[in-house]
Amino acid sequence: METATIPTYKNLQVERRDAVTILSVSRPDVLNALNRETLGEIEDCVRRFREDDSQGAMILTGAGEKSFISGADINELAVLNPREAEDISRFGQRVLDSIETAVKPVIAAVNGYAFGGGCELALACHMRLASENAVLGLPEVSLGIIPGYGGTQRLPRLVGRGRALELILTGRRVKADEAERIGLVNRVVPREQLLDEALKLAQAILKNGPLAVAAVLESVTRGGSLPLPDALRFESGFFGILAASEDMHEGLKAFLEKRPAKFQRK
Ligand code: COA
Repeated sequence: METATIPTYKNLQVERRDAVTILSVSRPDVLNALNRETLGEIEDCVRRFREDDSQGAMILTGAGEKSFISGADINELAVLNPREAEDISRFGQRVLDSIETAVKPVIAAVNGYAFGGGCELALACHMRLASENAVLGLPEVSLGIIPGYGGTQRLPRLVGRGRALELILTGRRVKADEAERIGLVNRVVPREQLLDEALKLAQAILKNGPLAVAAVLESVTRGGSLPLPDALRFESGFFGILAASEDMHEGLKAFLEKRPAKFQRK
């Protein structure tokens, strides 16, 4: 498998394994906390990933053994005035939106602490795998603030309003097994297998028609914020558009001819 390291960022390690980009946040002194600079680097890296036709999926994780992302950088939060606080919230939301609205799958490999902005980053990914040592939570109220990178909106949509409110209002941290039980992560895997499992998941998706994969992501992500009748129309629109693609004809023909499909993104 081809592996290339791209040493472009101060706080990120970015690696490509064939069509999968692996982005690791790396700020070891603060357990990978997100400062403004790191958010900017993530935004840039995600933009490049979105624009790069050679890349079909992204895995987001934290460097080191202990932490995915420990949260927003509390050193920066401590000196914000109200205007700056609103601005950093809008900025973080914009960066996380760029992950959620990608039409290529983004998988969080939660390899340890995922608090505050780290948990919110995982929530913005399309799927979440966790290692057995993962701990997730939105402890902001214990600091006298609220989640500001989409946590008050995405957590209830993922695990239900009652569970989300309990977690956000208490700031309680949940271990991997509970996170799996409530649907906060898709599944838990042994620590040493986390990256391989995330790669396997990415590769299973990459076998499928890329236009169909993009349509599913857009239909689920954008459709999820529409009233159901509008979302259903949206789904039908994609169903219709895909019927004009060569890939759809190839996929159906390959099934009838009992052979694997060769999709060409056309
Ligand atoms: N922002 C800035 N620095 C952070 C940080 C954050 N979110 N999380 C951890 N750090 C720093 C610690 O201050 C410490 O720095 P120091 O070595 O200069 O003292 C270093 O990272 C290691 O953290 P430490 O607390 O010693 O490690 P631990 O294993 O005992 O605990 C955590 C790890 C993640 C449980 C604990 O650091 C923590 O609760 N962090 C804050 C989590 C949080 O509230 N996030 C939401 C922010 S909105």
